Amino acid sequence: MCGIVGYIGDRQATPFLLDGLTKLEYRGYDSAGIAVFDGKDIRIEKTVGRLSTLKEKIKNDLPPGSLGIGHTRWATHGRPSDRNAHPHSDCSGNFIVVHNGIIENYLPLKEKLIERGHEFKSETDTEVVAHLLEEIHGKLERSKSDSPDLFLAAVREVLKTIEGSYSLVFMSKLFPHEIICAKQDNPLVIGLGEGENFIASDIPAIVSETRKTFILKDGEIAIVQKNSVEIQDRNGDRIDKKIFYVNWNSAAAEKGGYEHFMLKEINEQPKAIKDTMRGFIKQIRPARGTPAPERIAQDDSAIIFPELKWNPEFLDNIDKIYIIACGTAYHAGLVGKFYIERLARVLVEVDLASEFRYRDPIVDEKTLTIFISQSGETSDTLAAMKESKRLGAKTLAITNVIGSSLAREADQVLYTMAGPEIAVASTKAYTTQLILMFMLALYMSQLRQTLSADRTRELISLLRKLPAQISETLSDVEPIKTFAEKYGFNEDVFYLGRSLDYDVALEGALKLKEISYIHAEAYAAGELKHGTLALIVEGIPVIALATQKSVYEKTISNIKEVKARDAVVIGIASDGDEELEKYVDHVIHVPETDELLSPLLAVVPLQLLAYYAAITRGCDVDKPRNLAKSVTVE
Ligand code: M6R
Repeated sequence: MCGIVGYIGDRQATPFLLDGLTKLEYRGYDSAGIAVFDGKDIRIEKTVGRLSTLKEKIKNDLPPGSLGIGHTRWATHGRPSDRNAHPHSDCSGNFIVVHNGIIENYLPLKEKLIERGHEFKSETDTEVVAHLLEEIHGKLERSKSDSPDLFLAAVREVLKTIEGSYSLVFMSKLFPHEIICAKQDNPLVIGLGEGENFIASDIPAIVSETRKTFILKDGEIAIVQKNSVEIQDRNGDRIDKKIFYVNWNSAAAEKGGYEHFMLKEINEQPKAIKDTMRGFIKQIRPARGTPAPERIAQDDSAIIFPELKWNPEFLDNIDKIYIIACGTAYHAGLVGKFYIERLARVLVEVDLASEFRYRDPIVDEKTLTIFISQSGETSDTLAAMKESKRLGAKTLAITNVIGSSLAREADQVLYTMAGPEIAVASTKAYTTQLILMFMLALYMSQLRQTLSADRTRELISLLRKLPAQISETLSDVEPIKTFAEKYGFNEDVFYLGRSLDYDVALEGALKLKEISYIHAEAYAAGELKHGTLALIVEGIPVIALATQKSVYEKTISNIKEVKARDAVVIGIASDGDEELEKYVDHVIHVPETDELLSPLLAVVPLQLLAYYAAITRGCDVDKPRNLAKSVTVE
């Protein structure tokens, strides 16, 4: 995925473009570029590498002008390089484009354009769009088209020619009064200002300028001028678009004194899960005095989801649930399966989104498919949702981004209220997803009457304690820092656990791999002796989770197995457990809770361990190599 920005107004465009791209750098960071119209010509500045390289390059000579677009790239077609960096232009330099997504039919289009004399400067799929625009605009001009806006007419024709997923933003020195945007399967937001307007892939890039936005839907085209924004469909019919008011402020998308977004987001978890339990972000209540809905009954007797519009009978009659997601969200799904099966007694399967639609899943009208995604834009997750709808299942999205593609596509949506998550490594999104899965399981258990009123009340009261318990875990990071420094240079680490501890181990290992580049594997502790034990040698670090009381003794036996091979074991135990330290080298304690809720506490030291290991190794924590925040390609 990539980040896109645009500006039209009276101010200098470049400062906004650079600032906006900084906020979007999580979306891709292998090259960056901007194009600015100075009243006569368009100057393009682009370079391989981080945005900081571009900033350094132009710091003493910022391109002047009040109309511009910019891009930060995560390479798909063509390696990261100066010439593959966006913006791209046609042969004449009249038409400039930035793109997020993939033009699937670019190769045949490119071949034909080359036959017709177009010269390409890059290996990207995007460049064909600029050349097509040039060609189609020329044809319309020669045919003396009576279209009132030739630029728009040409863009519309281009969109008929290309196939794939995209958000595209166009500017032209022939039409310097407007920027044209088109969206298909990739996000695009228009920020509405006074005498100026903004364009971005995501809200953090514009929220310091305006909270009034249009969130484009697939198939929509925006004609953005200084004093107006018009939204049309592909046929040119005007759409009466509702303004979406962003309900968080720019501080939420800034580092707020932390060295990295990841550390900030780890520390935001108590608030994020509180907000998710409530169903709204505190401080910023829903606009215009409407009372905010609460998701937990005041007397702790029940979970309420005012936003779920399903007939309760449907949820009661479900006979199978699929949870579908990628990466960390998939790990949240594994915990979700446990919750729903244990509390609501419905069979749940968890699928990787990239596998689900290729395995001919058994789906019928009694099937519920739940899709978990922080961004709501992950391409595989979206495609799996489309397939599941095609097969006739009901769909529920659990996502963090309001108005995201997944949220719009789903029959029903439950939002996590984590606020913006910028670091590539997901932390507060994961814990808020767990909270929502737990609440959903309780909600279903109420409908299906699978849990006593006392047990429901007990679990809800424990749920309410979690924010304070996470804060407690976050208050003493020194031992974790010490372990990270001590073991951070090992090339292999193993994570072990049984039951829910195993699901958390998977997430802990993913965190460590993605930001510290240490090879980390998670195993169901009982599986060790079926092969993996062969890898355990003297001094190898093993993180052993032992918070699940129902399998505690079994876990201890597995820990003894690795200790007998001289592994160095760091145990994760609940407060009050004085047994574990007898069998391990170090123990990290987390507050005591019901074993169902312990993943929310046990994951926190693992997030911190990954963070400090990455720091120890000098890695770029927020922007790990080869990765991007949301994966909008298959
Ligand atoms: O936006 P999504 O939740 O759909 O993203 C899914 C994964 O790409 C994401 O969780 C990824 O695994 C994270 N980088 C892990 O920290």
